[in-house]
Amino acid sequence: MAAELKGFVLINRDEVAACGRQLGFDLYTVSLDDVGADPHPFCRKGQAMDSVLAAMDERLLAKFYIRRQALQSYYADMEASLSGLLEDPQVSVGQKSQVLHRCANNVLKDVYDDPRSGENLARTKDITENIIKFTMGSEGSVPGLLRLSSHDYYTFTHCVNVSVFGVGLMERIDSLSRDDLYDFALGCILHDVGKTEVADAILNKPGRLTDEEFEVIKSHPMEGYALMEDKLPPIALDVILHHHEKFDGSGYPHGLDEKNISDYSRVAAIADVYDALTTNRPYADARDPFKALTLMKQKMVGHFEQQKFMSFVEFLSTS
Ligand SMILES: [Fe+2]
Ligand SMILES: [Fe+2]
Repeated sequence: MAAELKGFVLINRDEVAACGRQLGFDLYTVSLDDVGADPHPFCRKGQAMDSVLAAMDERLLAKFYIRRQALQSYYADMEASLSGLLEDPQVSVGQKSQVLHRCANNVLKDVYDDPRSGENLARTKDITENIIKFTMGSEGSVPGLLRLSSHDYYTFTHCVNVSVFGVGLMERIDSLSRDDLYDFALGCILHDVGKTEVADAILNKPGRLTDEEFEVIKSHPMEGYALMEDKLPPIALDVILHHHEKFDGSGYPHGLDEKNISDYSRVAAIADVYDALTTNRPYADARDPFKALTLMKQKMVGHFEQQKFMSFVEFLSTS
């Protein structure tokens, strides 16, 4: 859904199809002959999905919209149907990737808006479960998700990206149990949750940070750990607390060295830095993948475990 029109949001057929057996919102349309006109009612909330999709298929030269106010119920329907959709052999991997990615971004936006909400955390755990189910069960799922990574930085899009890069690399190098992989993915998804405790003026400052401001940013792993301490399993907490530790001991918050950084945090650190470098930030434009990897190899000597970094390069080149 990219374009908006006077309180309406564009929606495509695949997205409507992902919302269950009945339409959970009113659907509007504009014919392509009539560009600029207001969308008019097309299908009503409650209509059977099969007949909605058939009607959409008959109108090839049209765009479809939902009202902006209906977005929340639309996302709720999509989230509720997600698990069944991922198991449906009739649905393509590309379509599953798109719906999962959209749901993940929406859930993460909510949990990063309000990480103390039990409901948001429960939805985050559900979406993580679905990411694991999809990436472990479908050929081509990781590349499908990687293609959708956004290059515009928001904390929540960054965290979706880090979980996809992290899970992809972890699946390649380690034969973790499903439970451990889930706990690791949950840590990746929530790795920057402590940034919700840092003022936006510092987080989004376009210029150089002062030493004091940088110290505030550096508090986010500890803040995240404190927020989630009694709510998440140890592997997820380890990733939240240690994703900024560096192999040579120069990281934070604890200055751990290679002997003391877990495999989980090593992988998360690589995924985190790579995504940050390939995304547009308030203070730097996105680099292309090759430049980002070169910079990580040449200018960040000592930050990462070399073997895992090389596996990451391989993973990206074959995904
Ligand atoms: Fe971080
Ligand atoms: Fe991060």
